[in-house]
This record gives sequence, structure tokens and C-alpha cells, in this order.
Amino acid sequence: MKNQGQLHIHTRLAQAGIGRDERTGSISLPIYPSATYRHPGVGESTGYDYTRSGNPTREALEELLADMEGGARGLAFASGMAALTCLFLNFSSGDHLILSEDLYGGTYRVLDQIFSRFKLSTSYVDTTRIDDIAAAITAQTKGILVETPGNPLLGIADIRAIADLCQKQGLLFIVDNTFMTPLLQRPLELGADIVVHSATKFFGGHNDLCAGVLVARDETIGEQLYFLQNSTGPVLSPQDSWLLVRSLKTLALRLERQCHNAQIIAEWLQQQPQVERVYFPGLIEHPGHLLVQQQANGFGAMLSFRVDSPARARQILERIGLISFAESLGGVESLLTLPAIQTHGDIPESERQRLGICDALLRLSVGCEDIDDLLQDLRQALAD
Ligand SMILES: Cc1ncc(COP(=O)(O)O)c(C=O)c1O
Repeated sequence: MKNQGQLHIHTRLAQAGIGRDERTGSISLPIYPSATYRHPGVGESTGYDYTRSGNPTREALEELLADMEGGARGLAFASGMAALTCLFLNFSSGDHLILSEDLYGGTYRVLDQIFSRFKLSTSYVDTTRIDDIAAAITAQTKGILVETPGNPLLGIADIRAIADLCQKQGLLFIVDNTFMTPLLQRPLELGADIVVHSATKFFGGHNDLCAGVLVARDETIGEQLYFLQNSTGPVLSPQDSWLLVRSLKTLALRLERQCHNAQIIAEWLQQQPQVERVYFPGLIEHPGHLLVQQQANGFGAMLSFRVDSPARARQILERIGLISFAESLGGVESLLTLPAIQTHGDIPESERQRLGICDALLRLSVGCEDIDDLLQDLRQALAD
């Protein structure tokens, strides 16, 4: 039998959790709900003292997450925002961060309305343009966070080039890899220091779990993040840690189907007279089409499209039947979102208008349903 490190990632995912319970040989990862642990003697420990600090079920998940991203340390949180909040606590008052302007609205909100009170300042730039990033660096800049593909406009940032810039300037480089997952894109191997995920999305994959992830490339940063996580306490529960391992086992299968469906839908939408523009990196016309292929193994299953009027966008949201009008993404069920009022509602109106996040822009998270059924639902929703 090969050792785990030599096995393909798909195999390691399918086999996750096996061998964790030698006494019973359980195939499914055991759930340890215990909040605390009995010490064998004074000054002795089983390795577990208290579940906020360490839990065997969460630990199995965290090892899997580190393995998937190719990092030294994985940490599992109660939500993506809990993971991001913990990450931002790693910075100090007076520090400055550069972020993608095409970014999840909740990340913007926590920085703009909470961390700003502690004097952590921010600049939002077009991170598809390396010169714009370089121009935003000040003596106070300590880190750069990008979402690539961007959210909701799917722009592609050059991970290698930004990693190079960060290394030269001594900045921490963070990638929110939620839209791609490590099966499509491995930022740590391209030079990033930390990867963030909303595991509520593709990792969980069934819209039945809220979770977040940080993975650090090296042990030192991993230890700092662990210190913050243990000190502030936003850990994922043992039950949800088990559910996330169970979900990750089928990530490869789900993602393959979702990406396949997304490509067909993006090409189909391009042909529709009611659609003015489709944002999907898998389209030849997309400005990041070549770059994404240099740093990822696929185009993902997220796409946005702008229709000919806000009234048309409303009509589509009211008519869709199979596809749900709902926030979130990455699950087996297809979801359609109006970013201007949902995921990006906290971004100021003027900023949204400047970026092109208008009332006629819809974001589609493509699920695992049959492609003909999805196209039929979209066809009847778009029709005049
Ligand atoms: C790209 C991205 N990052 C982070 C988050 C926050 O994650 P959560 O909703 O799990 O707190 C989201 C949520 O939509 C997201 O889309």
C-alpha cells in the first residue's frame, strides 16, 4: 500500500477519516463531542485538554484541509467570516491592507465597519492589474488579500506575480480560494502565504453547513493563527467537522459536474439576446482566460451575467423554478443571486456602480442538476 502522501488527492479525499479509530476500524470518522478530557495523571495529557484548543474530529478535518491546499497547518472555523476575522486579528492598529475591489461584501463590511475602529486601514484595488497593486503599497502596508476569480465579476488576478511582489516587499499574501477550491487552484504552491475559504460553499457542497477555513503555508504563520483561533474561540464544532469531512469526500465529483454545467450555461447565455454580457473565465473572450489556465486546472462553476434591464433581472428571479433565488454558492443545488442587494449590499452604491455591480447583474452558482433541466429553467425565465 502506498503511503498517503503518494496517493492522488481524489483518493485521499475519498478515504478521509479512515483509520482514525483503530479499536473499531470505523470507516466513518468518529465524532468526539467531549468538551473536555480526563488527564491520565498530574502534569500528563492525552494530547487533548479542552475542545476549543483541540478536538480529534476537528483535527482530522484540519489535517485534511492542510493536505488539500499543500500547507503546513489547517484550521477550521464556525464560518468563513469567523476565519477572516481571525485572520484580520493577526494585524495591528496602524497596519494597512490591500484587497481586491471585486470582493465578497461581508469581507468589506467587517473591515469597513469593525476593523476600521481599531485603525486597520484598507485600499480596494483592481487586483487583476499588478501595477495598481504596487501603486497602493505604503510604508504601513502589511498584507494583500485577493479573491481570484473575483466576486461577482470573476476577474483573474495573477497569483504568481502578486506573490513575487509580496515577497519583495515583505507582505503577507492571502488568497480567498472559495470559488476555486484546491482541486482547481493551489495558491500556496504559487507563492501565497495563507488561503481562506468559506467552507459553507463548495467544500460543504450541500447548503447544509456553515464553516470556514484558513490554511497557512508555513508552521510559524500557522502557529500564530492557531494562537488567535484558540484565544478568541470561533472553532468549528465536532459535529460540523465530521459533516465537512463527509462532504469533502465527494468534492471532486461534484466540482467536475458543476464546472461542466457552468461552461455550457455560460456559452448558452452568450447567445441569448436578453443577455448583454457574461462573466465567466472559461469563455475565450474573458480577459483572464489565458491567465487562469496558467494557474488553475479549471474555470470553476461560478458565473455572472448582465441582462438588458433591471426589470429583466427581476423577471428572471421571479420566474426561475428549478434554480433557487438565494444567497450563497457552491452547493449541488443551483442558486441565483442579485449581488447588488444581497452579497454586495454593504458596498456603497457609488462604488457598486463604478465596478459594474448593477441591478441588472445576476450571479449564478451552477449545481449538479441535469444540464437540460437547468437550460430549460433559464430559457423560460429569460423569455420576453
Ligand atoms: C468568497 C467568500 N469568502 C468568504 C465568505 C464568508 O463566508 P461565510 O458566509 O461562510 O461566513 C463568503 C460568503 O459568501 C464568500 O463568498
